[in-house]
Amino acid sequence: MFNKISNRIIFFFMALVTAMTAALLIIIINQTRVYYLAIIRREMAEKVNFIDLIVKQNRARYLGGALYERQKLIRELSGIIDLRITFVDLDGTVRADSEYADIGEMDNHKYRPEIMDALTGGSGTSIRYSDTLKIDMFYYARRSGGGIIRLAKPLIEADESIARLRAYILAAGGTVLLLSFAVIVMISRRITRPINETLHFARDFSAGDFSQRIHNYSNDEIGAVQKALNRLADTAQDTINGLIEEQRKLETTIESIHDGIAVIGRDKRILIANRAFKSMLDTGSNVRGRLFFEAIRSRSLNSHLEQAHITGQPIVFDEELLNERHCEATINPVRSEGSLQGILLVLHDTTEKKKIDQMKTDLVSNMSHELKTPITILKGYLETMEQHLCDADMVSDLLKKALVNVDRQSSLINDILKLNRLETSMDFPIEVIDISDIIRSCMDILTHKAQKKNISIRFNAGGGPARIPGNRFLAEEVFFNIIDNAINYNHDGGTVDIDMKMSGATLAISIKDTGIGIPPESIDRIFERFYRVDKSRSRATGGTGLGLSIVKHAATLLNWDVTAQSDGSGTSFLIEI
Ligand SMILES: Nc1ncnc2c1ncn2[C@@H]1O[C@H](COP(=O)(O)OP(=O)(O)O)[C@@H](O)[C@H]1O
Ligand SMILES: [Mg+2]
Repeated sequence: MFNKISNRIIFFFMALVTAMTAALLIIIINQTRVYYLAIIRREMAEKVNFIDLIVKQNRARYLGGALYERQKLIRELSGIIDLRITFVDLDGTVRADSEYADIGEMDNHKYRPEIMDALTGGSGTSIRYSDTLKIDMFYYARRSGGGIIRLAKPLIEADESIARLRAYILAAGGTVLLLSFAVIVMISRRITRPINETLHFARDFSAGDFSQRIHNYSNDEIGAVQKALNRLADTAQDTINGLIEEQRKLETTIESIHDGIAVIGRDKRILIANRAFKSMLDTGSNVRGRLFFEAIRSRSLNSHLEQAHITGQPIVFDEELLNERHCEATINPVRSEGSLQGILLVLHDTTEKKKIDQMKTDLVSNMSHELKTPITILKGYLETMEQHLCDADMVSDLLKKALVNVDRQSSLINDILKLNRLETSMDFPIEVIDISDIIRSCMDILTHKAQKKNISIRFNAGGGPARIPGNRFLAEEVFFNIIDNAINYNHDGGTVDIDMKMSGATLAISIKDTGIGIPPESIDRIFERFYRVDKSRSRATGGTGLGLSIVKHAATLLNWDVTAQSDGSGTSFLIEI
């Protein structure tokens, strides 16, 4: 109950008002009684004067007379002043009493307080409870001549007045208390309302709702506190927004990194994991907060992480991922003030690098093999020649064969150099070229070869544009090699159809032969270096196995698209520009 300020204010204020009202009541009642008694006393003093006078006038009757006379006188006087009268001797003996006829029965009054005071000081008063009348009696005694006159009055009238007064005061006090209660409840509400508002604000704020503000300032110290709190909330919100923004930037950065990144806390739970990490290890999207050995399914990765966790040493190793992918994993323990705080795991995908490395190795071995073959053959011819120098026909035949191999070696080296130039040089300026002209000149060079196999080449320049931007050297390489193949891998008496037309915004040129075709399992590989479906056939035609690689590189540099299709009736190459 006292936890609330308003209740405390109400309680203490009400206690104060009640105490004050009670004190007031007591003071008023006491003062009223004192006032009443003073009036009664004065009244009695006046009446004693009167009695004194009467007694003095009837001295003989009073002093000398018989008891009967005294009693008669005293009853008469009592009847006049409406008070009980007692005459007492200085030794305390009752001489007459207006109420009691049988004074002989009455006690000696010497030790009654009012009598004692009258004997010593001339007059005295006393209030006593009368057992006979069951009420308080007021006694007033004064010396008079040779004795004491005592008057007695029941206080019933005063008590009644005081009781009435008390009732009035109690009623007034009650009303005051009720009004005070209403007023104090109102005041305490007014005082505590801003405090409660501030309290709600503080609660919301501590619960993380930084958007709340106090809107109605009170115009006092609490208002100043509220303004200060609002400013505090502004600053806190700005700071938090800044932090959130920073964190967002950091998260975006980490998310956009191609390497898989994860941070694992001291408790072995994943704190951060980017998209690349999740896809590389196929962990699912919800890994944050999970134990790393539950989320990561690679045994070797987990054992390395465990090891780093124990030793606190960095580890770099190759890891095989899913789908035959590889990565270089780097585990870096994160330390702060000497103790291990967590582990940073970075997975760098090395699949492409590994593939390129493998391709380089293959290329070198292929190339050395290709280069060595004609030399070995040449060496064989030359050795045979040496042994049969006298046989002119044989020497001539061997020399021809040797020359063929020298030509092959030469064209192989030429193709290798050409391919190397295409791969490394960017020096192929864009110029205006005439596609029909280029195709025709390639056809011219190859006419002789075609005629030997009785192959006819037809070119339908159709609706294609005469001139387009490109590079003549590259374009010649594309068309020459494809038409060359269309002749080489054609049957005797076959045809090569070259067709050029616009297809939408694309210039499409198809080169279709009626040759031996390409098996479906090889169609994707024919653009690889040194790939040949039939090695001996290729060699017989003087092929190097590099023609289509040159085509692919040249087309890439020209931004052209080259695709091949083949069925039982021949092969068709489509060039889209
Ligand atoms: N028009 C075609 N018809 C059938 N096979 C072809 C055709 N063009 C290319 N090929 C196949 O693709 C291989 C690679 O061609 P290419 O790179 O030009 O090398 P090559 O020097 O052997 O001609 C050839 O050996 C051949 O097996
Ligand atoms: Mg070829």
